[in-house]
Amino acid sequence: MDAPLVRIRDLVLEAATARGTARILRGVDLDIGRGRILGVVGESGSGKSSLAACLLRLLPGNVTRLSGEVAFDGTDLLALDPAAMAAWRGTRIAMIFQDPMTALNPVFTIGTQMVDVIRRRDPGLPRAAALDRAETMLRRVAIADPRARLSAYPHQLSGGMRQRAMIAMALLAGPDLLLADEPTTALDATVEAQIVALLEELRSDFAGSIVLISHHLGLVAQLCDDLAVMYGGRVVETGPVAPVIAAPRHPYTRALLACEIGEGGEGRLASIPGDVPDPVAPPPGCVFAPRCPRAEARCAAEPPALRAASEGRAAACHFFEEWS
Ligand SMILES: Nc1ncnc2c1ncn2[C@@H]1O[C@H](COP(=O)(O)OP(=O)(O)O)[C@@H](O)[C@H]1O
Ligand SMILES: [Mg+2]
Repeated sequence: MDAPLVRIRDLVLEAATARGTARILRGVDLDIGRGRILGVVGESGSGKSSLAACLLRLLPGNVTRLSGEVAFDGTDLLALDPAAMAAWRGTRIAMIFQDPMTALNPVFTIGTQMVDVIRRRDPGLPRAAALDRAETMLRRVAIADPRARLSAYPHQLSGGMRQRAMIAMALLAGPDLLLADEPTTALDATVEAQIVALLEELRSDFAGSIVLISHHLGLVAQLCDDLAVMYGGRVVETGPVAPVIAAPRHPYTRALLACEIGEGGEGRLASIPGDVPDPVAPPPGCVFAPRCPRAEARCAAEPPALRAASEGRAAACHFFEEWS
């Protein structure tokens, strides 16, 4: 296999809180393959958004430790100076947020914001040519009457339209890596389905790698090539989507899958009994041991390493060979 676009090793992120040090990422190991879509899944509080924040180096002010290796096409992202990192954002690395209003500026039209994105890549391009390119991209993401939308302000568009406009802007940046953090969570089910269909359709136009963060395993299985399951600030299982879904190696992946299949009533997903670990006082052994139906004495005492399995897979469970 080619060298991955991004190679993350032993990534640690800690922050100060009133209750003590929050251990948000506790040694994340992960590869993002070139031209591949990686789904990052896990319950809320597992560290998914924090991982994206490390890749963009947009970190909250209370961070006390950021260590490990994030090699992006051979460049150590953690060592880039702030000006270089800022220049990478929106060019080499672009982001689609859960709430497009956090990314779109309410006081500028969609057209002006799209022209800005285009000119970051192509500074000399005349405004009229940039607007034409923006219009083409809005049409590509299935926004009706795209010329007129260019003069609209974000609040004049529906939630689904805004999400499409943000996807259009991210694609215009032509990034090597596109990060999408729960891009459909804020939308209703019909619009969510449309956006998923759109992302699927756009796959073939986009040469870069995509990281799709979601707590919805079904969505990820549909769209992604690879999967990383996060829990308690760690990657507990990773590998190509199909074999991971067909036969999970980690009990946490298995529990997440069971939630997708089961229903929690009122059309909601079922949930795994128990709570995600408190990052201020994480369990000393396996992060999942307190909720794991298969935990043994060793699991509570000794954290399992992420170990390679067959088919390019890896799992962090002491016993995956025995039960999977
Ligand atoms: N700046 C911070 N200070 C303290 N704790 C934080 C901070 N950012 C995130 N956390 C905690 O880290 C854990 C992971 O958060 P997050 O990355 O948002 O998870 P996810 O995106 O998977 O829901 C949560 O317990 C969250 O409360
Ligand atoms: Mg999140």
